[in-house]
Amino acid sequence: MRAYFLENPAETVGGDKLHDEGIFYLKLPTAEAEFRAPLDTLCAARGYVSQDVVQLGSATPNLEPLLEKFFTEHLHTDEEIRFVVAGEGIFDLRDCDDRWMRVHVVPGDLLIVPPNKYHRFALTDTMHITCKRLFQNQDGWAAINRPAA
Ligand SMILES: [Fe+2]
Repeated sequence: MRAYFLENPAETVGGDKLHDEGIFYLKLPTAEAEFRAPLDTLCAARGYVSQDVVQLGSATPNLEPLLEKFFTEHLHTDEEIRFVVAGEGIFDLRDCDDRWMRVHVVPGDLLIVPPNKYHRFALTDTMHITCKRLFQNQDGWAAINRPAA
């Protein structure tokens, strides 16, 4: 994981800043045999009741409109929990001063976007990511786009 302010990539966003912004970050092993137990513990502790795997890449049907949707600034009323198992991606998250913080995630990175935090997602130039998505309540999970300024 690597995080910095989008307007000034030389300005690193540290773990303390992410924590202050309500963003949870955890580094887990990349091998399933090794991440299974700590991931189960996290699910039990935080009340995650279901999970699935999402894969984005050149073979994904309708990739372009999907990426356009994910890169539209939005929020959710539940947490967005992603654990990267392969590939890489970019989460842009608004800080409390409305500055974009760019978080570059790689395998082993688990990121939790808190409820009501504006964000967007993009692939990197490698154009591939495989993530586990964890859910508190699959029914209520929907994107709410930010109204145009
Ligand atoms: Fe989202």
